[in-house]
Amino acid sequence: MLNYKPYLRLVICLLVLASFGEVVLAQDPHIVPLEKSTKPLHLYVQFESHPDREAVISWATTLPGKNHVLYYDTQPRDANTKQYTHRLTKIHSGAYTLEKDEKPMESYYHHAYLNNLQPSTRYYITVESDGKRLGEYSFITAPADDRDVMMFIGGDSRLGADRVEDDNARRRMNTVMRKLFEKSPGIIALAHTADYTNSAHWSQLYYWLKDHFEKTTTADKRLLPIFPARGNHDMDIGFEEMFWWPNRQNDYYYTANINKNTAIVILNTEISINGDQRVWLEKELQTLRPKKRWLGALYHRPAYPSVRAYEDGESRRRAWVPLFEEYKLDLVSSGHDHSMKRTLPILNVKADANGIVYIGDGGLGVRPRDVDPTRWYLKPPGVAKSVHNVHMVDYGAEQITIKAFGIDGQTLDYFVIPLNRAARAKHYQNLLDNPN
Ligand SMILES: [Fe+2]
Repeated sequence: MLNYKPYLRLVICLLVLASFGEVVLAQDPHIVPLEKSTKPLHLYVQFESHPDREAVISWATTLPGKNHVLYYDTQPRDANTKQYTHRLTKIHSGAYTLEKDEKPMESYYHHAYLNNLQPSTRYYITVESDGKRLGEYSFITAPADDRDVMMFIGGDSRLGADRVEDDNARRRMNTVMRKLFEKSPGIIALAHTADYTNSAHWSQLYYWLKDHFEKTTTADKRLLPIFPARGNHDMDIGFEEMFWWPNRQNDYYYTANINKNTAIVILNTEISINGDQRVWLEKELQTLRPKKRWLGALYHRPAYPSVRAYEDGESRRRAWVPLFEEYKLDLVSSGHDHSMKRTLPILNVKADANGIVYIGDGGLGVRPRDVDPTRWYLKPPGVAKSVHNVHMVDYGAEQITIKAFGIDGQTLDYFVIPLNRAARAKHYQNLLDNPN
């Protein structure tokens, strides 16, 4: 006779798992019904290769709407749409892709691409969907000349499902950025080193955008633009729906020209780092290096990790680091490890006064992980801390100044990179000789 017992056990197990799954889904505090409206939500600005003249202005609505408009001007118009000099009606709109359980959050994206902007100029904007508006906000384009330019560099802002509370670490880090942004109007954007949310689903991206809009926008309503990079938690379609760019040249790798003499090559660690991307990188560095005072790189997974195994960085150390060294990059940034780091200057996989400093490693809201400060490249004068953090980088005429800030706004690190190569080697050697 057949023994049904094992089958019965299996069926019971499956039933228990299924009901557990239901419970988990039902308990996801991110998923709440959104009020149906065409009122614009979560205005944000995206920069890419030419932030002195191009930007994408984006918002969302919970009803599809029919008529979406961006009004913009170099003078404030107090959201009086009749007074704005420019009006853009060619808006790229569509429905956010939703998982079954996300249906109560049904939403639509709207992206307005501008390519005729003036550099270092404040633009006052109002967006409208079927007559509903959000009020007037503004953003400032990047310089096209040689003036100092500042930028936040930071990433890993994902939260656990239990962390939608008002004072979560991401919102606190956004507040730290806002206060710095208000004090330093020369900051042009946040270069995000990726991993925005746990997964790129709308029920999570919604809160990322909400937090960014509510907490990084200054008291005088200046928006903090974003240079996006893609990480391992950003692989769902929602990321592409949120960070749309017309005729994107590559798969989320590009050069951000942040003033006349400064370029940051933003790479994608989630696709082949050899092949087309490496060919592109080499060509780009070859073209840029003779023209740029400052040349940097930024991407998600580190070449010199502060938490994960040293072996984890091997592929980047083989594919990209030799190019960084050949073209003498000034600064390289990454995320992914949930910590704060500044390495020793590194050349040929050892500490060297003629080497490159690497900063990172992601701390914009995700829980910090334990660093391994005993690694050769993190020992003093290198720094490795298990803390929330954001870097503020100032690309000046004579030096790059790097400051790292923690969740209470406290300074975690300060470092300068002199332009003059002899002075830089002397400065780095001095640090290596006097590590403490
Ligand atoms: Fe990551």
